[in-house]
This record gives sequence, structure tokens and C-alpha cells, in this order.
Amino acid sequence: MTQRADALVLFGVTGDLAFKQIFPALQRLARAGALDMPVVGVARSAWTDAELRAHARESLAAHGGVDEAALARLAPRLRYVEGDYQDPATFARIGAALAPAMHPLHYLAIPPSLFATVVEGLVAAGCANGASVVVEKPFGHDLASAQALNAMLHRYFPETAIFRIDHYLGKEPVENLLYFRFANAFVEPIWNRDHIASVQITMAEAFGIEGRGRFYDEVGAIRDVVQNHLLQVAALLAMEAPIQRSPETARDERNRLFRAMRPLTARDVVRGQFAGYRDEPGVAAGSQMETFAALRLMIDTWRWEGVPFYIRAGKKLPVTSTEVVVDLKRPPLTVFDPVNAGSGNRFRFRLSPDVFISLQARVKAPGERMVGDDVELIARRQSPDQMTPYEKLIGDALEGDASLFASSDSIEAAWRVVDPVLAGMPPPGVYAPGTWGPRDAARVVAEPDGWHNPTLDGGTP
Ligand code: BG6
Repeated sequence: MTQRADALVLFGVTGDLAFKQIFPALQRLARAGALDMPVVGVARSAWTDAELRAHARESLAAHGGVDEAALARLAPRLRYVEGDYQDPATFARIGAALAPAMHPLHYLAIPPSLFATVVEGLVAAGCANGASVVVEKPFGHDLASAQALNAMLHRYFPETAIFRIDHYLGKEPVENLLYFRFANAFVEPIWNRDHIASVQITMAEAFGIEGRGRFYDEVGAIRDVVQNHLLQVAALLAMEAPIQRSPETARDERNRLFRAMRPLTARDVVRGQFAGYRDEPGVAAGSQMETFAALRLMIDTWRWEGVPFYIRAGKKLPVTSTEVVVDLKRPPLTVFDPVNAGSGNRFRFRLSPDVFISLQARVKAPGERMVGDDVELIARRQSPDQMTPYEKLIGDALEGDASLFASSDSIEAAWRVVDPVLAGMPPPGVYAPGTWGPRDAARVVAEPDGWHNPTLDGGTP
């Protein structure tokens, strides 16, 4: 654990991320009484404190609603510092606005190309002493750039003071994957290569790139969501239990698992691009960037030898849903049903938009014969007031708890997994919007049932 922060500095406070995610999270933290420090917003626009407060109100009205009591706690804490990040005077003003804080948390909600400039500005003005820093994704563009970014940050901050956001790690149902595995006596003994045939992780989005063409066309599905969110999900499904309750041990265990992920080869990956992508504003005319990726990941540990982890993500698919399906091996002898009857046993973890865990089982079908049916036992929990990922992660970073943040080791290990397939790949296969990606995606999965497609009513198609 690092020191609890006594001030929060938001670089890029006029930007999109602050508007959509950070202000709503701050309001929730203020409501919970967890924001008792000054919040200094920094950007280039010539704003006053009052304008920043009005902007915060607008953001809340557009994203979840204004809670007057919570805003009344938050607003007086907001201060605005205008300035160019190249100009040392900006950082002198930040320093003055921060005094007498000893442990500010600097949140870099700005393009990665500006990270080094801002960090160096903070160091030169003495604002990095005793401080910590939050960085947003994308963390690097490939292994080499991520290593360079880590090296830059490590010059000025210890690893324990660097909070790399992956908002998937702040999601309750994602955290629950690890909890569920180890907190249940009927799960842990079978959670290995002896009983599990394969694991599938699908992140389907029915929408497209929503005006983010310029950003997306430099990134693509593998960098946007696979290298970070989906490999983190795989790590939580596959890692060993931490040896203690401390944040460091949880991170260490996750890091070990990341190191065991086998780098992908071209044969493991199928890329796709939805028809019409190249006509989106900001996208290059002949772009070969993928909006869909399906891949087979192997994890070289004792527990997972030979068990494929199939991962799939795409834009303009038939539904918006993220789901994990764990297929168990079939019983060895079929004394009742014909061979391969039904779909077998599997766990399903629906991570969004709704949340449930299900167990698919075989039960005897009513009647004379000893044959069965598939049934699905679904456990669903509605918790409307659960913390949002940004509320949880910003709250943890202010507390100095890094367990739900990506470490330098895991980030670099994750880039090592995807690096071989980021360039030099065959062109992506075109798919029609509203379909499950290019036809070739089927070849990634060896299992007879192929991919399991999530449906919106929670049932299997
Ligand atoms: C972001 C990606 O990190 O995650 C987006 O940049 C994606 O492309 C989003 O849509 C999905 O997050 P969530 O929480 O809505 O599943």
C-alpha cells in the first residue's frame, strides 16, 4: 500500500473521460464520504472555478443525475488551473493550488503522447514528491512503447505509486470470477485441465466505433480490448489464489499467470472488419484495422496444460454482452444418453449488461427412458446501487490500494502475448454488421459446439 492521497489533480478535466466517467465517480465518492480532499482540475481552456463547477454539474446531469447533497460536498473542493502542459508556469500554479498537500494523486486523463511532458513538468515543479499517478489506457501501442512508458514512469515514481487503469478490473462481476472460484468447495477441485475442456470469453458490442474513428483506426480490437480487458479476465479465471489478503500478493499472483500466457501466432488469430468501417469518419480509406478478433490462447502452467482459452471481441455484432463460458469435460461413459447428447456441463458467467452465473447440467427427462435433458440453473443478483468501476478504482487509488490496477509486469507480459499478431497479419475478413464476425472465426475453436454466442434474454441460442 502506498500513502493515502490528500489531494486529487485531474489533468484533462475538460475532456471526454472526465465528463463521462470521472465526475460521476467523484459525485458517488463524495456521497459516500470518501472524497475529503481538494480536487484540482487542469486543462488549457480559460475557465474559472465557477465554470469548472458548472461543467461538473452538466456532466452529472448527463451521466446518472445530479445528487444535490453530494454535489454540495464536491463542488467547493473543485479548483481550476488553466495552462499549457509545456509551460513550467502551469505546474507552478498547480503546486500553489495544491499546498499544503503532501501526497497528491495526479490523474492523467490525457492522450498518452502527453504523459511524459506532464510527468516531467510535475517533477520539475516539485509536485511529484510523495505523489502518485493514475494513467489511463491505452498503456503503450506495443511491447516496446509500453516498456518505454514504464521506464519513464519508474524514473520518477515507485511502482506502488503508479495506478494503471483497466476499468474491467473495477467491475464487480469480474472481481467475482476470482472470488467464486476459490470461495466454493464444488468449484476449485475441478478448475483445472483434468475437468475443464476449454474456456470462452466473448465481448460482443452491437454498436460500432461511435465517432472514435481516428483513435480506433490506430488501435483496433486487439489493442483496444483484448490486450487489456480480456486478458485480465483470462488471468482472473486462471490464476492461483493469492497467498495473503494484501494487494501486493493478489497482483503478484496475477503477474505470474500473465507470464505463463503463450505468445500468439498468426494461426491462433482470426481478424475481421465490419462492412462499412472504412467509410467511418477518421478511418483510412484502405484501412486493414480489425474491428473483430477471435483467438486461441494457451496458458503454460501445470493447471492449464492443453486447455484452450478462446477469446473473441468485436464491434457491430448481434448483441452487446460480455460473457465467459467454461466447458467441462464430458463424463467418461455414457450409460444413459447417446454419445455427445446435449451440450454437456458448463459454467456461464454473464458479466454485462446483466449479471448472472449459471450451471448447465443434465437431468433425467420425464418419462420411461433413462435419457436426459439440458437444464440451466441460473443465479442472478440485482444490486442496483453497486459501485461503478470508476468509483471503485478512483476510490482505491486515493486510498493507495493498487490491487485492482495493472502492474508494469502484467502490462508488458500482456503485450508480449499480442505483439506477434499486431503487424504482418493477413487482411481482416469482412463481416456484415449484425453478424458474429467473419466466417473464418469458427476455425479458431476446436470444440464440436463451436463458439457459444450470448443472447440478450440470458438463454443460449
Ligand atoms: C473501452 C474500449 O476500453 O471499453 C471501448 O475502448 C469499449 O471500445 C469499452 O467499448 C467497453 O467497456 P464496457 O465497460 O462498456 O464493457
